[in-house]
Amino acid sequence: MNTMLFSPYTIRGLTLKNRIVMSPMCMYSCDTKDGAVRTWHKIHYPTRAVGQVGLIIVEATGVTPQGRISERDLGIWSDDHIAGLRELVGLVKEHGAAIGIQLAHAGRKSEVPGEIIAPSAIPFNESSRTPKEMTKADIEETVQAFQNGARRAKEAGFDVIEIHAAHGYLINEFLSPLSNRRQDEYGGSPENRYRFLGEVIDAVREVWDGPLFVRISASDYHPDGLTAKDYVPYAKRMKEQGVDLVDVSSGAVVPAAIDAYPGYQVPFAELIRREADIPTGAVGLITSGWQAEEILHNGRADLVFLARELLRNPYWPYAAARELGVKIEAPVQYERGWRF
Ligand SMILES: Cc1cc2nc3c(=O)[nH]c(=O)nc-3n(C[C@H](O)[C@H](O)[C@H](O)COP(=O)(O)O)c2cc1C
Repeated sequence: MNTMLFSPYTIRGLTLKNRIVMSPMCMYSCDTKDGAVRTWHKIHYPTRAVGQVGLIIVEATGVTPQGRISERDLGIWSDDHIAGLRELVGLVKEHGAAIGIQLAHAGRKSEVPGEIIAPSAIPFNESSRTPKEMTKADIEETVQAFQNGARRAKEAGFDVIEIHAAHGYLINEFLSPLSNRRQDEYGGSPENRYRFLGEVIDAVREVWDGPLFVRISASDYHPDGLTAKDYVPYAKRMKEQGVDLVDVSSGAVVPAAIDAYPGYQVPFAELIRREADIPTGAVGLITSGWQAEEILHNGRADLVFLARELLRNPYWPYAAARELGVKIEAPVQYERGWRF
């Protein structure tokens, strides 16, 4: 049978062998606390490449030390990080997958000791620190840090860059009126709240001509927050700026109860794809081959991102192929186990 899940997908000149993406997942495994790639990363990511994932997106990687979620995050704030990342890229590519990296700044959700920064001096919840409201100089520096990160990602050989604008981290904090109360040109109207992301995209695009994804939180799950409809004009703007795909997640800008069920974020990806006419990625409780195929075949998204299922089973693509009755290439070493 001809499935979409196992058909190649080309985006800005990069051809993925299938439409299965490993969603970025923090491993909190830099025990040296310097952002450097460790043995864990060199085993964890290539294992999913052996498992036949088409595109692997490396976890949220800090563009500044203070922009990490924790001290154990990966980093890309120094040229010293390039060699380790290049080795990781080589290992993943050697085993047949494409590889991307998620460039991130945690903003007010950073748990790294010291000062934390955000668009406004509002803490995430009662138990979190109050961030410093960013000055114009802080904004400029942070945009520059994203650009430097992109340049280093290119030097390390990544195929894809994803900008993390979701889950209540710094860029999302600018976008949402719940966390952005600024009075200047970076706050207030929807256009002003987009300005920071717009500047980050332009800065990254100056040094990066490969596929560019942006991950968003399409719903704040709050009556005064953003909804997927609010993201349609934003996604149109992203497309004009040269973004190739919007990776549609949701939530976490403020504490909120989320009713999560299989495919709960897919309608957001579908709406943005249709209304903004831009490729989207669907993510969230996607666990079976037929579920993934339905999303693609009904034109609800262009790529499916899997997170926890790929922690449980790094060989999920093989299991999904079997479910859909598709024969996929197996690593020669595993052929006797993968034959059916
Ligand atoms: C251990 C873990 C770490 C995660 N880290 C990140 C991250 O670094 N960046 C990100 O955008 N999402 C992160 N997420 C969210 C996942 O990428 C994904 O969007 C979410 O888990 C829903 O997909 P799933 O139901 O397939 O797990 C993480 C999730 C898990 C379980």
